[in-house]
Amino acid sequence: MAQDPVLLFKKGLSFYICCDICLIWRNIVISKPILFLSKAGKLCVPAMNVNDSVTKQKFDNLYCCRESILDGLKRTTDVMFGGKQVVVCGYGEVGKGCTAALKAMGSIVYVTEIDPICSLQACMDGFRVVKLNEVIRQVDIIITCTGNKNVVTRDQLDRMKNGSIVCNMGHSNTEIDVASLRTPELTWERVRSQVDHVIWPDGKRVILLAEGRLLNLSCSTVPTFVLSITATTQALALIELYNAPEGRYKQDVYLLPKKMDEYVASLHLPTFDAHLTELSDEQAKYLGLNKNGPFKPNYYRYTFPC
Ligand SMILES: NC(=O)c1ccc[n+]([C@@H]2O[C@H](COP(=O)([O-])OP(=O)(O)OC[C@H]3O[C@@H](n4cnc5c(N)ncnc54)[C@H](O)[C@@H]3O)[C@@H](O)[C@H]2O)c1
Repeated sequence: MAQDPVLLFKKGLSFYICCDICLIWRNIVISKPILFLSKAGKLCVPAMNVNDSVTKQKFDNLYCCRESILDGLKRTTDVMFGGKQVVVCGYGEVGKGCTAALKAMGSIVYVTEIDPICSLQACMDGFRVVKLNEVIRQVDIIITCTGNKNVVTRDQLDRMKNGSIVCNMGHSNTEIDVASLRTPELTWERVRSQVDHVIWPDGKRVILLAEGRLLNLSCSTVPTFVLSITATTQALALIELYNAPEGRYKQDVYLLPKKMDEYVASLHLPTFDAHLTELSDEQAKYLGLNKNGPFKPNYYRYTFPC
């Protein structure tokens, strides 16, 4: 491997950076093989899992998608959101961002989930948690955000109403079973870039966006401010691994130290003219914290401000 850090490749929003002492990544897709290598004891360099840093998950997944879901849908379909019935599959970070944006625009939003905790969160945030089959005939828009496969099946696409929109904000192109739509009885009509009408024999049309790939990466812009946060997280991970004294990091997978996550956030606060409150000595002692952080334990879950 090279002496200096090298950008191995860039795909969509994902950067894979490698240097002679470390490996960092910021994408859930690459985390599985690296974790597998690590478990098998076959990782030959230390690796930093930036994907699971708070400053990646809570900003790229949540706030970025909260903005780009509307942008992607508008640019491709010019749909009006008020009063539309939308089902969002998956109430993780991406799902929370999408539902919040659509709710704010006056859409009637349903959520599907497999996880009781996320389902309960959705209920408390004011969304009806349903099975997709319960609402499939009535919804105007389906958005997948699960990281899973075949979340929307051909059978369900058959039952969607005329003019409904189906798109994916989650994983790759696996969430909607697009392959099942490529059969002789269905006609595909490309109405504009990234927008296909799939036409059933009775004339029903379903609008498929980006052929089931990620809507925002294919059809909208992504806020540069969020990219700045993620890029800063990556750069700090690289610097940390590069500068770390011998032995701090072994051939294993690590999360970015909490203090660095906090540093990434603090670098972006001046944009908002935000002023942090400093702990007094007495308060720091009372809470058992260092005045300069970290301010939260590693297990702390930053809640979603709905
Ligand atoms: N579009 C983007 O810009 C963007 C940004 C970040 C992440 N992502 C991708 O979006 C996906 C979700 O990311 P996340 O951070 O929200 O993950 P997450 O794990 O927080 O949320 C996914 C949720 O989907 C639920 N789920 C899984 N299978 C389901 C099913 N069959 N039906 C209903 N719910 C199901 C899970 O229980 C989970 O709560 C990932 O694939 C991620 O790589 C996309």
